[in-house]
Amino acid sequence: MPSVANLSLPGTTLPGAVTVTIADGDALKKQVAQYVATIAKACTKDRFVVALSGGSMPKLLTGLLDLDVDWAKWDVFFADERCVPLDSNDSNYKACEDHLFSKIKGDKPTIHTLDTSLSPAQAAEKYGDALNAVGRRFDLCLLGMGPDGHTASLFPEHDLFRKPDGSVARCILDSPKPPSERVTFTLSTLQNSVRVCFVATGDSKTPVLKEILARKEGKLDYAYPVPAYPAAWVRSADGGAQWFLDSAASGGL
Ligand code: 6PG
Repeated sequence: MPSVANLSLPGTTLPGAVTVTIADGDALKKQVAQYVATIAKACTKDRFVVALSGGSMPKLLTGLLDLDVDWAKWDVFFADERCVPLDSNDSNYKACEDHLFSKIKGDKPTIHTLDTSLSPAQAAEKYGDALNAVGRRFDLCLLGMGPDGHTASLFPEHDLFRKPDGSVARCILDSPKPPSERVTFTLSTLQNSVRVCFVATGDSKTPVLKEILARKEGKLDYAYPVPAYPAAWVRSADGGAQWFLDSAASGGL
């Protein structure tokens, strides 16, 4: 386990801050969509600033296409993005465009793409500036989790996670999950979000989930001490998070 001495959690004293929903297939997709649409509707600001992830997330979000969503109000960023052309099959933007954005009827969201013409370091700085320009924080972060407990492109053994430096976004040139060059919002930026939501599916996630979550008095809560997985440390500014799991991932938690 890496040391977590340099890391801090927001709102750790709040009890029961985690909510866990377990559902499968279309039911999971519907529940995630309902949750996101409800948060978006309840946002009283002019703009709804959201971070989306790659992996299985874009497909899971297609349930939003059946709901009443005011897309024009959305500013969309990617919690992490691969340093590849935007039309590459590895691009998180492309996955979201293909599965979701291209299918929206009517007004589209404002999509903030990574400037892939720049070096990864310059692109990260510019991406951080873009978030600052729309209010410095996410109203909602929609995150996945890898079987190793990574989230966005924050990996458990990597200094990008273990040694925070106050940047809004940073580049990683040696990502354990390919492609190796990526830009990710940092732990502190993600922790400053109004809300954080994870979606984890598949049994490869179960062992780590069983370390992150623990049953206390019949209810699932965060385990303490907090294990050194980025997905355990990314919580919203009030210490909370919503987790959506399928039965395979929950492994009978
Ligand atoms: C990426 C991601 C990454 C992803 C997790 C979970 O671009 O690779 O943003 O953090 O969300 O690896 O991926 P799955 O949802 O496919 O399991």
